[in-house]
Amino acid sequence: MKAIVVTDQAAGLAGMKLTERPEPPPAINDVIVQIQASGFVPTEMEWPSTWTDRRNRNRTPSIPGHELAGVVTALGYGTTGLSVGQRVFGLADWYRDGTLAEYVAIEARNLAPLPGDVDFTVGASLPISGLTAWQGLFQHGHLQAGQSVLAHGAAGALGSMVTQLAHEVGAYVIATGRTADRQKALDFGAQEFVDLDNDALKDVGGVDLVFDVIGGDIGKQSARLIRAGGTMVSVVGPPVPRPDDGRAVDFVVETDRAQLGEIVQRVRDGRLRTNIGNVSTLDDAIAALNPTERRRGKTIIRVR
Ligand SMILES: NC(=O)c1ccc[n+]([C@@H]2O[C@H](COP(=O)([O-])OP(=O)(O)OC[C@H]3O[C@@H](n4cnc5c(N)ncnc54)[C@H](OP(=O)(O)O)[C@@H]3O)[C@@H](O)[C@H]2O)c1
Repeated sequence: MKAIVVTDQAAGLAGMKLTERPEPPPAINDVIVQIQASGFVPTEMEWPSTWTDRRNRNRTPSIPGHELAGVVTALGYGTTGLSVGQRVFGLADWYRDGTLAEYVAIEARNLAPLPGDVDFTVGASLPISGLTAWQGLFQHGHLQAGQSVLAHGAAGALGSMVTQLAHEVGAYVIATGRTADRQKALDFGAQEFVDLDNDALKDVGGVDLVFDVIGGDIGKQSARLIRAGGTMVSVVGPPVPRPDDGRAVDFVVETDRAQLGEIVQRVRDGRLRTNIGNVSTLDDAIAALNPTERRRGKTIIRVR
Protein backbone atom coordinates (compact mmCIF):
# COMPACT_ATOMS: atom_id res chain seq x y z
CA MET A 1 0.00 0.00 0.00
CA LYS A 2 1.02 3.62 -0.38
CA ALA A 3 1.93 5.35 2.89
CA ILE A 4 3.78 8.34 4.28
CA VAL A 5 6.58 7.27 6.62
CA VAL A 6 9.05 9.01 8.89
CA THR A 7 12.41 7.61 9.98
CA ASP A 8 14.47 10.66 10.94
CA GLN A 9 13.38 12.54 14.06
CA ALA A 10 15.83 15.39 13.49
CA ALA A 11 14.35 16.10 10.05
CA GLY A 12 10.90 16.89 11.51
CA LEU A 13 8.06 17.35 9.02
CA ALA A 14 10.54 17.69 6.16
CA GLY A 15 11.57 14.05 6.70
CA MET A 16 8.25 12.63 5.49
CA LYS A 17 8.51 10.22 2.56
CA LEU A 18 5.83 8.66 0.34
CA THR A 19 6.62 4.99 -0.05
CA GLU A 20 5.22 1.44 -0.31
CA ARG A 21 4.51 -0.47 2.93
CA PRO A 22 2.97 -3.90 3.50
CA GLU A 23 -0.76 -3.87 4.22
CA PRO A 24 -1.19 -4.39 7.99
CA PRO A 25 -2.73 -7.64 9.29
CA PRO A 26 -5.60 -7.34 11.81
CA ALA A 27 -4.66 -8.30 15.40
CA ILE A 28 -7.09 -9.38 18.16
CA ASN A 29 -10.03 -6.93 18.42
CA ASP A 30 -8.75 -4.96 15.41
CA VAL A 31 -10.41 -3.96 12.21
CA ILE A 32 -8.68 -3.08 8.97
CA VAL A 33 -9.95 0.23 7.59
CA GLN A 34 -9.53 1.27 3.99
CA ILE A 35 -8.78 4.91 4.60
CA GLN A 36 -10.70 7.52 2.65
CA ALA A 37 -9.48 10.61 4.53
CA SER A 38 -6.80 11.21 7.14
CA GLY A 39 -6.22 14.01 9.65
CA PHE A 40 -2.81 15.08 10.95
CA VAL A 41 -1.82 17.24 13.95
CA PRO A 42 1.07 19.61 13.11
CA THR A 43 2.99 18.67 16.28
CA GLU A 44 3.12 14.89 15.64
CA MET A 45 6.86 14.90 14.93
CA GLU A 46 7.40 16.12 18.51
CA TRP A 47 5.45 13.22 20.09
CA PRO A 48 7.66 10.45 21.54
CA SER A 49 5.08 7.89 20.33
CA THR A 50 5.87 8.77 16.71
CA TRP A 51 9.37 7.39 17.24
CA THR A 52 9.30 4.72 19.96
CA ASP A 53 6.92 2.03 21.18
CA ARG A 54 5.57 1.69 24.71
CA ARG A 55 8.83 0.02 25.78
CA ASN A 56 10.80 2.93 24.35
CA ARG A 57 12.20 0.90 21.43
CA ASN A 58 12.64 2.52 18.04
CA ARG A 59 9.54 1.83 15.95
CA THR A 60 10.49 3.62 12.73
CA PRO A 61 9.66 3.68 9.91
CA SER A 62 6.38 4.83 11.40
CA ILE A 63 3.31 6.09 9.60
CA PRO A 64 2.02 9.36 11.10
CA GLY A 65 -1.58 10.63 11.11
CA HIS A 66 -3.98 9.65 13.89
CA GLU A 67 -7.41 10.60 12.61
CA LEU A 68 -9.28 8.72 9.94
CA ALA A 69 -12.52 8.18 8.14
CA GLY A 70 -12.96 5.12 5.97
CA VAL A 71 -14.59 1.75 5.41
CA VAL A 72 -14.01 -1.48 7.36
CA THR A 73 -12.55 -4.18 5.08
CA ALA A 74 -11.62 -6.96 7.55
CA LEU A 75 -12.12 -7.96 11.18
CA GLY A 76 -9.48 -9.39 13.53
CA TYR A 77 -9.96 -12.37 15.82
CA GLY A 78 -12.71 -11.74 18.35
CA THR A 79 -13.70 -8.31 17.02
CA THR A 80 -17.30 -7.29 17.70
CA GLY A 81 -19.35 -4.15 17.27
CA LEU A 82 -18.34 -3.26 13.71
CA SER A 83 -18.85 -5.04 10.39
CA VAL A 84 -17.14 -5.28 7.02
CA GLY A 85 -18.35 -2.51 4.70
CA GLN A 86 -19.26 -0.17 7.57
CA ARG A 87 -18.31 3.53 7.36
CA VAL A 88 -16.28 4.55 10.41
CA PHE A 89 -14.20 7.39 11.82
CA GLY A 90 -11.94 7.66 14.82
CA LEU A 91 -8.65 8.04 16.57
CA ALA A 92 -5.67 5.74 15.89
CA ASP A 93 -3.37 4.49 18.68
CA TRP A 94 -0.44 6.85 19.25
CA TYR A 95 2.05 3.96 19.26
CA ARG A 96 0.89 2.14 16.12
CA ASP A 97 1.18 2.94 12.45
CA GLY A 98 -1.24 5.73 11.63
CA THR A 99 -3.58 6.91 8.95
CA LEU A 100 -1.49 8.60 6.23
CA ALA A 101 -1.78 5.35 4.31
CA GLU A 102 -4.24 3.36 2.24
CA TYR A 103 -5.04 0.96 5.12
CA VAL A 104 -4.70 0.94 8.89
CA ALA A 105 -5.05 -1.80 11.53
CA ILE A 106 -6.88 -0.28 14.47
CA GLU A 107 -8.74 -1.52 17.54
CA ALA A 108 -12.50 -1.44 16.97
CA ARG A 109 -13.00 0.51 20.21
CA ASN A 110 -11.09 3.42 18.65
CA LEU A 111 -13.80 3.85 16.02
CA ALA A 112 -17.39 5.00 15.79
CA PRO A 113 -19.89 4.61 12.94
CA LEU A 114 -19.76 7.50 10.46
CA PRO A 115 -23.31 8.34 9.34
CA GLY A 116 -23.89 8.07 5.59
CA ASP A 117 -24.64 11.80 5.22
CA VAL A 118 -21.28 12.88 6.70
CA ASP A 119 -18.47 13.20 4.18
CA PHE A 120 -15.23 11.29 4.84
CA THR A 121 -13.28 14.57 4.74
CA VAL A 122 -15.46 15.94 7.54
CA GLY A 123 -15.23 12.67 9.49
CA ALA A 124 -11.43 12.74 9.44
CA SER A 125 -11.34 16.31 10.74
CA LEU A 126 -13.27 15.56 13.95
CA PRO A 127 -11.68 12.91 16.18
CA ILE A 128 -8.73 14.66 17.84
CA SER A 129 -9.99 18.22 17.97
CA GLY A 130 -13.57 17.19 18.76
CA LEU A 131 -12.73 14.67 21.48
CA THR A 132 -10.06 16.90 23.05
CA ALA A 133 -12.43 19.86 23.24
CA TRP A 134 -15.22 17.68 24.66
CA GLN A 135 -13.04 16.01 27.29
CA GLY A 136 -11.29 19.23 28.31
CA LEU A 137 -14.49 21.24 28.71
CA PHE A 138 -16.87 18.67 30.15
CA GLN A 139 -14.95 15.74 31.68
CA HIS A 140 -11.98 17.65 33.10
CA GLY A 141 -13.31 21.21 33.24
CA HIS A 142 -16.88 20.41 34.40
CA LEU A 143 -18.10 23.42 32.42
CA GLN A 144 -21.58 24.72 33.26
CA ALA A 145 -23.91 27.18 31.56
CA GLY A 146 -23.21 30.75 32.62
CA GLN A 147 -19.52 30.17 33.31
CA SER A 148 -16.80 31.99 31.38
CA VAL A 149 -14.17 30.28 29.22
CA LEU A 150 -10.93 31.62 27.80
CA ALA A 151 -10.52 29.63 24.57
CA HIS A 152 -7.00 30.02 23.23
CA GLY A 153 -6.12 29.62 19.54
CA ALA A 154 -9.78 29.80 18.57
CA ALA A 155 -9.09 29.90 14.83
CA GLY A 156 -7.15 26.63 15.04
CA ALA A 157 -8.39 23.05 14.80
CA LEU A 158 -8.87 22.49 18.52
CA GLY A 159 -9.70 26.05 19.63
CA SER A 160 -12.55 26.31 17.12
CA MET A 161 -14.16 23.17 18.62
CA VAL A 162 -13.62 24.46 22.17
CA THR A 163 -15.25 27.77 21.24
CA GLN A 164 -18.30 26.15 19.64
CA LEU A 165 -18.93 23.48 22.29
CA ALA A 166 -18.52 25.98 25.13
CA HIS A 167 -20.88 28.40 23.39
CA GLU A 168 -23.43 25.64 22.85
CA VAL A 169 -23.70 24.82 26.57
CA GLY A 170 -24.29 28.47 27.39
CA ALA A 171 -20.85 29.54 28.53
CA TYR A 172 -19.49 33.03 27.90
CA VAL A 173 -16.57 32.51 25.52
CA ILE A 174 -13.58 34.81 25.27
CA ALA A 175 -11.53 33.60 22.32
CA THR A 176 -7.90 34.40 21.55
CA GLY A 177 -5.64 34.27 18.54
CA ARG A 178 -3.72 36.36 16.04
CA THR A 179 -4.97 39.72 14.78
CA ALA A 180 -6.41 38.16 11.62
CA ASP A 181 -8.43 35.57 13.59
CA ARG A 182 -10.95 37.93 15.18
CA GLN A 183 -13.88 37.45 12.80
CA LYS A 184 -13.35 33.71 12.50
CA ALA A 185 -13.40 33.32 16.29
CA LEU A 186 -16.56 35.44 16.62
CA ASP A 187 -18.19 33.39 13.83
CA PHE A 188 -17.52 30.22 15.85
CA GLY A 189 -19.56 31.72 18.69
CA ALA A 190 -17.12 33.69 20.86
CA GLN A 191 -18.58 36.75 22.59
CA GLU A 192 -15.21 38.52 22.83
CA PHE A 193 -11.84 38.25 21.14
CA VAL A 194 -8.39 38.94 22.56
CA ASP A 195 -5.72 39.62 19.94
CA LEU A 196 -2.66 38.04 21.56
CA ASP A 197 -0.32 40.07 19.34
CA ASN A 198 -1.71 43.41 20.53
CA ASP A 199 -4.07 43.15 23.52
CA ALA A 200 -3.15 42.48 27.16
CA LEU A 201 -4.45 39.16 28.47
CA LYS A 202 -4.68 40.53 32.01
CA ASP A 203 -7.44 42.90 30.85
CA VAL A 204 -9.70 39.85 30.48
CA GLY A 205 -10.18 39.85 34.25
CA GLY A 206 -11.23 36.56 35.86
CA VAL A 207 -12.57 33.44 34.11
CA ASP A 208 -13.93 30.10 35.30
CA LEU A 209 -12.05 27.97 32.80
CA VAL A 210 -8.98 28.45 30.64
CA PHE A 211 -8.47 26.01 27.76
CA ASP A 212 -4.80 26.33 26.90
CA VAL A 213 -3.54 25.09 23.53
CA ILE A 214 -0.51 27.42 23.41
CA GLY A 215 1.44 27.16 26.69
CA GLY A 216 4.63 29.14 27.40
CA ASP A 217 4.15 32.72 28.49
CA ILE A 218 0.50 32.73 27.33
CA GLY A 219 -0.13 29.74 29.60
CA LYS A 220 1.57 31.44 32.54
CA GLN A 221 -0.45 34.63 32.15
CA SER A 222 -3.64 32.61 31.75
CA ALA A 223 -3.20 30.67 34.99
CA ARG A 224 -3.39 33.97 36.84
CA LEU A 225 -6.83 34.69 35.36
CA ILE A 226 -8.54 31.66 36.94
CA ARG A 227 -11.23 32.66 39.44
CA ALA A 228 -11.42 30.93 42.83
CA GLY A 229 -12.75 27.44 42.22
CA GLY A 230 -12.02 27.61 38.48
CA THR A 231 -10.01 25.26 36.28
CA MET A 232 -6.99 25.58 34.05
CA VAL A 233 -7.18 22.89 31.38
CA SER A 234 -4.04 22.40 29.31
CA VAL A 235 -3.29 20.11 26.39
CA VAL A 236 0.28 21.35 26.02
CA GLY A 237 1.79 20.12 29.30
CA PRO A 238 1.29 20.80 33.00
CA PRO A 239 0.30 24.43 33.68
CA VAL A 240 3.07 26.42 35.34
CA PRO A 241 2.30 28.16 37.64
CA ARG A 242 -0.80 26.36 38.86
CA PRO A 243 -3.76 28.66 39.57
CA ASP A 244 -3.63 30.09 43.11
CA ASP A 245 -7.10 28.98 44.11
CA GLY A 246 -8.28 26.61 41.39
CA ARG A 247 -7.66 23.26 39.73
CA ALA A 248 -5.09 22.52 37.05
CA VAL A 249 -5.57 19.62 34.64
CA ASP A 250 -3.35 18.58 31.77
CA PHE A 251 -4.32 15.58 29.71
CA VAL A 252 -3.93 13.70 26.45
CA VAL A 253 -7.12 12.93 24.57
CA GLU A 254 -8.50 9.40 24.74
CA THR A 255 -10.72 7.54 22.37
CA ASP A 256 -14.45 7.39 23.20
CA ARG A 257 -17.08 5.98 20.86
CA ALA A 258 -20.05 7.63 22.59
CA GLN A 259 -18.38 11.05 22.51
CA LEU A 260 -17.51 10.61 18.83
CA GLY A 261 -21.22 9.95 18.30
CA GLU A 262 -22.17 13.14 20.17
CA ILE A 263 -19.71 15.16 18.11
CA VAL A 264 -20.77 13.84 14.70
CA GLN A 265 -24.44 14.31 15.61
CA ARG A 266 -23.74 17.99 16.27
CA VAL A 267 -22.08 18.29 12.87
CA ARG A 268 -25.11 16.69 11.21
CA ASP A 269 -27.62 19.02 12.84
CA GLY A 270 -25.53 22.15 12.32
CA ARG A 271 -24.53 22.85 15.93
CA LEU A 272 -20.85 22.21 15.16
CA ARG A 273 -18.90 23.38 12.13
CA THR A 274 -15.63 21.82 11.04
CA ASN A 275 -12.57 23.95 10.53
CA ILE A 276 -10.99 22.44 7.43
CA GLY A 277 -8.32 24.42 5.60
CA ASN A 278 -6.45 22.61 2.86
CA VAL A 279 -7.58 19.28 1.39
CA SER A 280 -4.91 17.35 -0.51
CA THR A 281 -4.28 13.90 -2.01
CA LEU A 282 -1.88 11.34 -0.52
CA ASP A 283 0.47 11.95 -3.46
CA ASP A 284 0.62 15.66 -2.56
CA ALA A 285 0.41 15.17 1.20
CA ILE A 286 4.03 15.98 2.02
CA ALA A 287 3.79 19.43 0.45
CA ALA A 288 0.38 20.01 2.07
CA LEU A 289 1.71 19.06 5.53
CA ASN A 290 4.78 21.31 5.08
CA PRO A 291 2.94 24.54 4.21
CA THR A 292 4.84 27.68 3.33
CA GLU A 293 1.87 29.82 4.36
CA ARG A 294 -0.09 29.97 7.61
CA ARG A 295 -2.65 27.15 7.91
CA ARG A 296 -6.29 28.30 7.58
CA GLY A 297 -7.68 25.32 9.50
CA LYS A 298 -7.11 21.61 9.61
CA THR A 299 -5.30 19.96 6.69
CA ILE A 300 -7.06 16.79 5.51
CA ILE A 301 -5.50 14.22 3.22
CA ARG A 302 -7.97 12.49 0.89
CA VAL A 303 -6.37 9.08 0.48
CA ARG A 304 -9.09 8.04 -2.00
N1 LIG B 1 -3.02 16.82 24.66
C1 LIG B 1 -3.87 16.53 23.69
O1 LIG B 1 -4.62 15.56 23.78
C2 LIG B 1 -3.93 17.39 22.45
C3 LIG B 1 -4.93 17.16 21.52
C4 LIG B 1 -5.01 18.00 20.39
C5 LIG B 1 -4.09 19.02 20.23
N2 LIG B 1 -3.11 19.19 21.16
C6 LIG B 1 -2.14 20.28 21.04
O2 LIG B 1 -2.85 21.51 20.97
C7 LIG B 1 -2.11 22.44 20.18
C8 LIG B 1 -3.04 23.05 19.14
O3 LIG B 1 -3.43 22.05 18.22
P1 LIG B 1 -4.30 22.42 16.95
O4 LIG B 1 -4.47 21.17 16.15
O5 LIG B 1 -5.49 23.21 17.35
O6 LIG B 1 -3.27 23.39 16.17
P2 LIG B 1 -3.61 24.59 15.17
O7 LIG B 1 -4.74 24.20 14.28
O8 LIG B 1 -2.32 25.01 14.59
O9 LIG B 1 -4.19 25.73 16.14
C9 LIG B 1 -3.42 26.48 17.03
C10 LIG B 1 -3.92 27.92 16.93
O10 LIG B 1 -3.33 28.70 17.98
C11 LIG B 1 -2.70 29.84 17.38
N3 LIG B 1 -1.54 30.24 18.17
C12 LIG B 1 -0.48 29.49 18.55
N4 LIG B 1 0.40 30.22 19.24
C13 LIG B 1 -0.11 31.48 19.30
C14 LIG B 1 0.33 32.70 19.88
N5 LIG B 1 1.48 32.78 20.57
N6 LIG B 1 -0.44 33.78 19.73
C15 LIG B 1 -1.60 33.73 19.05
N7 LIG B 1 -2.08 32.60 18.47
C16 LIG B 1 -1.34 31.49 18.60
C17 LIG B 1 -2.26 29.33 16.03
O11 LIG B 1 -1.95 30.39 15.16
P3 LIG B 1 -0.65 30.22 14.19
O12 LIG B 1 -0.99 29.11 13.25
O13 LIG B 1 -0.51 31.54 13.54
O14 LIG B 1 0.51 29.87 15.11
C18 LIG B 1 -3.51 28.55 15.60
O15 LIG B 1 -4.54 29.39 15.13
C19 LIG B 1 -0.93 21.67 19.59
O16 LIG B 1 0.21 21.92 20.38
C20 LIG B 1 -1.35 20.22 19.73
O17 LIG B 1 -0.27 19.33 19.85
C21 LIG B 1 -3.01 18.40 22.27
